[in-house]
Amino acid sequence: MTRLSALSRQTLDYLEQPVHATWSRGVSMSAIEMTARRSRERDDLATRYLGVRGASKRLCEGLSVEDHIVQSMPDVSPTKWHLAHTTWFFETFVLSRGPGVTPFHPAFHDLFNSYYLSVGKPFPRAQRGLLSRPSLDEVWAYREHVDAAVMDRLARGDLDAEGARILELGIEHEQQHQELILTDIKHVLWHNPLYPRYAGAEPVERASRDRCRASLRWHGLSPDIADLGHDGRGFCFDNELPRHRVLVPAYELASRLVTAGEYLAFMRDGGYRRPELWLSDGWDFCRREALSAPLYWLERDGAQLHFTLRGLEPIDEDEPVVHVSGYEADAYARWAGARLPREAELELAARGRPVAGNFVESGVLHPVAAASGGDIAQLFGDAWEWTQSAYAPYPGYAPPDGAIGEYNGKFMVNQLVLRGGSCVSPRSHLRASYRNFFPPHARWQFSGIRLARDP
Ligand SMILES: [Fe+2]
Repeated sequence: MTRLSALSRQTLDYLEQPVHATWSRGVSMSAIEMTARRSRERDDLATRYLGVRGASKRLCEGLSVEDHIVQSMPDVSPTKWHLAHTTWFFETFVLSRGPGVTPFHPAFHDLFNSYYLSVGKPFPRAQRGLLSRPSLDEVWAYREHVDAAVMDRLARGDLDAEGARILELGIEHEQQHQELILTDIKHVLWHNPLYPRYAGAEPVERASRDRCRASLRWHGLSPDIADLGHDGRGFCFDNELPRHRVLVPAYELASRLVTAGEYLAFMRDGGYRRPELWLSDGWDFCRREALSAPLYWLERDGAQLHFTLRGLEPIDEDEPVVHVSGYEADAYARWAGARLPREAELELAARGRPVAGNFVESGVLHPVAAASGGDIAQLFGDAWEWTQSAYAPYPGYAPPDGAIGEYNGKFMVNQLVLRGGSCVSPRSHLRASYRNFFPPHARWQFSGIRLARDP
């Protein structure tokens, strides 16, 4: 048993105590229920915290020490930095709320700050790969130190409501970085001419063997005056609020994601050489970067290959195309006589459906072909779906007070919303109202295309 799981047991034992003690004193039911509820909430938080922290560790089991350090471009962070930064979040925003807390290392305060200017001076993002020190072992020790302190805080029950709320935010934040660990290490390994395989990736047959080619169909959705945004049940980020009323005209949505084979047809039809298909900014980007295929695609001996977390493989034309920019997604949609969906259209289509699909838990770590069937497939998982919606505040949005207000609000310009999650997203992290966002030129995320059109 590890130290953490021992602490977890100790925490859970402790959290049971107040309920029985209060009961024996004959206090009113409401007080007992209140105490029990608080205990359950702390219990759930401790369990979730340990589960998510353990999941980050498991993602690293297939990596060498050297793999943890490389930064392949400014947008990519080394795995070691992700491990330290997520820990920094808990130390800075949760543990610092208590008295007499000694930082694990005073220099870490700025070293592993990402962009929170109100609490310090973040180390330059593009130089994170230069941090050969602290060592990976020291970062693991940092994580253990903070984990023990968080568990102790929960066990003593001295985390106030705001502290518990920020702890939950930190857990969700770590899940976001778990996805980034995988997207970033894929970019790192791609730059190595040995095309190394990420050891954690399962063979694709495991997920796709029961699937067959699903032809694209169109689903008509009725016009609606609907409430958009989170409904208040469970956790959400501030950018999913406030819930507000929108008018959604009738629209049609494709039954599945665009496949690699369909995208190949766009390429063979001169898609990357026809300016009439592209937004002006997109065409400039396409020319400047000499784009001719999605990221990670390459031709060898006449065969179309792509790099996956399983290494270099032939393209499976039935799988969703992935690692396209918003510009490429938009050009493809125009070529196909359709358009990208609006975020409200995807949220309404996903609402009420189970969060089911191909997520990180499948172990495949790559999109898989849609199952044939009558419903709209792949609304969750496989690939983040580019929308044509600008990442903007919802009407009435206000960022939270303090440094946490820097989490989302200040990025609400020059980016597009993506919906649905991907094959490297943790399932428990997603919901219909979830808004991801990236600039339209971003290609290293697991981003794909779903078509929409007007009836
Ligand atoms: Fe972060």
